Amino acid sequence: MPVPFNLADALDSVLKSAAKTAGLEADAFAPEVRTADARHGDFQANGVLGYSKARKLNPRATAEKLVAALPAEVSSVYEIVIAGPGFINFTLKPATLQAWLTTHDSAAHLKASAASAKHGQAWVVDYSSPNTAKQMHVGHLRSAVIGEAICRLLEFSGARVVRDNHIGDWGTQFGKLIWAYQRHLDAAALAVDPLQEFERLYQIGNAAADADPAVLEQAREELVKLQAGDPTNLAVWKKINDVSLGAFQQIYDQLGIAFDVTLGESFYNDQVERIYRELTETGIAQESQGALVVFHPEHPRFKTQPFIMRKADGASNYATTDLATALYRLEHFHADGIVVVTDFRQADHFEQLFLTVKKWFAAKNYRLPELHHVTFGAVTGEDGKALRTRDGGTIKLKELLAEAEARAFALVSERSSDLTPEERHAIAGVVGVASVQYADLSQNRSSDYVFSWDKMISLEGNTAAYLLYAGARIHSIFRKLGVADPLSRTDQGSALETPAELALARKIVKFADAIRLATETLRPHFLCLYLYELAGEFSAFYAVDKVAVDDLAVRARRLQLCSRTLLVLETGLGLLGLRTLTRM
Ligand code: ARG
Repeated sequence: MPVPFNLADALDSVLKSAAKTAGLEADAFAPEVRTADARHGDFQANGVLGYSKARKLNPRATAEKLVAALPAEVSSVYEIVIAGPGFINFTLKPATLQAWLTTHDSAAHLKASAASAKHGQAWVVDYSSPNTAKQMHVGHLRSAVIGEAICRLLEFSGARVVRDNHIGDWGTQFGKLIWAYQRHLDAAALAVDPLQEFERLYQIGNAAADADPAVLEQAREELVKLQAGDPTNLAVWKKINDVSLGAFQQIYDQLGIAFDVTLGESFYNDQVERIYRELTETGIAQESQGALVVFHPEHPRFKTQPFIMRKADGASNYATTDLATALYRLEHFHADGIVVVTDFRQADHFEQLFLTVKKWFAAKNYRLPELHHVTFGAVTGEDGKALRTRDGGTIKLKELLAEAEARAFALVSERSSDLTPEERHAIAGVVGVASVQYADLSQNRSSDYVFSWDKMISLEGNTAAYLLYAGARIHSIFRKLGVADPLSRTDQGSALETPAELALARKIVKFADAIRLATETLRPHFLCLYLYELAGEFSAFYAVDKVAVDDLAVRARRLQLCSRTLLVLETGLGLLGLRTLTRM
């Protein structure tokens, strides 16, 4: 029987049909197949317990019936043991492991096999999405890095992904900025570093407006003029946005991010009337103290905390544009799923938004896409406080990436003094950025992200450098043997035999499961953890089982293991958005 890519999924469906054969209430039975602790086998089906308990059946007896109903092929693939009160443990037989390794032999093949229920669906991922007129700082890193990994995971499962940079280009910051631009512009500074000059002007405008209500009023008037289409203010606004986007792009290039569309808040400005109308006519929104708001009576907090979608002065806001954005994503991109990646402080906003969208789409008979707000914690220093420069300023992303590269250069130079400075610089470019990305991705995104250069740029622990080094080491094995094309070797050789070979193979075949988990939960750290463990198994194997042995059949099977480890490792790192190395 051909070996499926996702063994756990396949086992799940075979158990479901066996349930029918065994006379269980098949519709009510969920096998609950999980990756097992290695001591108990490869996979474990726990579903019998809950099923039996609910029906006052003896779980062991139910498990026995179920196992007896499994088709014969299953026992040629697995060693099956019923354990404890009624867990069913499945251990892959060596021949199955080998068949998996032989079947799944290229990146294209892995991707084709990974196609899930999302195959062919359209998913819009809204990430990075910084506000213009400011440089990106370290706080903007997480959305960009996590969002890109999520895009790649979704694509790998067969979805068509639209990468949308929902920039904040229409906020109140522009009134203050335009006010200061007209009075305090330093043309020379603008020519040298426009973004820096805009930031300086914004600070002047902000301070002046704070100090003097008359300035605040003037700034408000500038904003009203802008929103009414005043050509002078529009020109300044456009200039600010162009400069900002140019600076953002440099960062995106370094991070390997390419947006399909950049549809910021201003894009939705002329679509808000329809939103007011539809939410009013469906009775979802109501007037409250002059504003148009939505309450959610079924919610403990949002029954009294309003979702303000038009301010009392008639102006639209963040909520209005986000409502328009949801509709646009449905009508224009035919979205089956929408993912927005921001920090946890926007949790209330998105909860209110999604509740509102659900009611609104239902009332209008619009198809409802899956809606996900992917949140993440703050970036802090090792002292637990917000990460700042020595003089207390925010850390600019540009400077952070430059420092990462410099530190990576030191690390590489220490390890590989035989490489030329050019080679070391090229490697450091990859290692530096990858370290920053990986440090972010490898932590559960819900936690705060403790930023530590020493932990991040290190060859020890769950780091990018450790994983990139593992890959480079496999490349060097092939180089030394003069073997080309390390990624899709078709060597098979003799049967897998040693404990280290088998342990490595058992880890490789779990790739599918790690991908599924990371994609379903939209949590890339599951994939990071898997890759780290894979690299660990590889090191353990390489330490005890020599690859370049004289026995060619043994050599071939070990080369196949090296090749598949590399394939899975590089595919996984690629899904996280990291570039990989053949030499380090
Ligand atoms: N510009 C916002 C910020 O910097 C993030 C936008 C997220 N996307 C959205 N559709 N609201 O906080």
